[in-house]
Amino acid sequence: MKQKIFLTRTLHDFALKELKKKFQVEIHKGKIPIPQNILKSKIKNSDGLICFPYDKINKEILQSAEKLKVISTYSVGYDHIDLDFAKKKKIRVGFTPEILTDATADMAFGLLLDSLRRISEGDRIIRKGKWKQIYGAYDYAGFDLQGKTLGIMGLGRIGKTLAKRAKAFDMKIVYHNRKKISKEEEEKLGVKYTTFDKLITQSDIISIHVPHTTETNQIIDIKILKKMKKTAFLINTSRGKVVNEKDLVTALKQKMIAGAGLDVFEIEPINKNHPFTKLENIVLVPHIGSSTKETRSKMAELTVKNIINGINGKKPIYSVGY
Ligand code: DGY
Repeated sequence: MKQKIFLTRTLHDFALKELKKKFQVEIHKGKIPIPQNILKSKIKNSDGLICFPYDKINKEILQSAEKLKVISTYSVGYDHIDLDFAKKKKIRVGFTPEILTDATADMAFGLLLDSLRRISEGDRIIRKGKWKQIYGAYDYAGFDLQGKTLGIMGLGRIGKTLAKRAKAFDMKIVYHNRKKISKEEEEKLGVKYTTFDKLITQSDIISIHVPHTTETNQIIDIKILKKMKKTAFLINTSRGKVVNEKDLVTALKQKMIAGAGLDVFEIEPINKNHPFTKLENIVLVPHIGSSTKETRSKMAELTVKNIINGINGKKPIYSVGY
């Protein structure tokens, strides 16, 4: 008998075809994200689970899994999975890093460029019929990128790739990380290590690339925002919960900082009445950092490989925890 795989939403056709060759496959077709009670009942008799960042794979869900061997998440982030409990139950966890590094770094850089040059704001001005002058000397002036200091919070794969983009735009780059990278790598990337405090006070743009953990939860709050330059921008493509959104709204309203560019939010999706949507000095995108056709297809391929390995008792290609 074929082993059972449950998917909390659908994947690319080629990936489903591959899975169906080997397993009995069931795909959740109802409400997204899948309601917890349905997930609980489906996981009970599944050998493998393919999930997505909005699914909450918590202790309660994992407790109901009777024979689950592997969880393969279609994401680089795994903060939606209780890794400790999965480990206790000897459930392997696969994820999809590396292949989405470029796409996500591009999105961070895109938000940076858009925020400083007011691209989305300009688009709104035209669409609302508010373009009143042909050429006003001070109208819609943004900021140059050249010579500005980019502070990268978390210099992992995505942070390093963002640094390469920033270097090509002649920006100065500082970073803060738990661990300093080697001198050689610093030179190659053109980055300098700095303390968290200096990164906050001296950067013209801060881009967040740390995972959401208990230590990073709401690490960017009003105290930190007050320390930033009044002309500074905040970019976040990691996880929304790293920033205290209420405080960010206050900082943007009171012009404590110049602007922000966000791909991620405390609770997603945000609705059209969210306070962010009332502000002009923020660029919003709906968590699409890794969403290019090429990258999403590679993620599907890796998600399938990870689950096949796990079902066969091997470590997923990219594995966290057990
Ligand atoms: C990830 O892969 O974790 C991205 O944030 C979303 O898909």
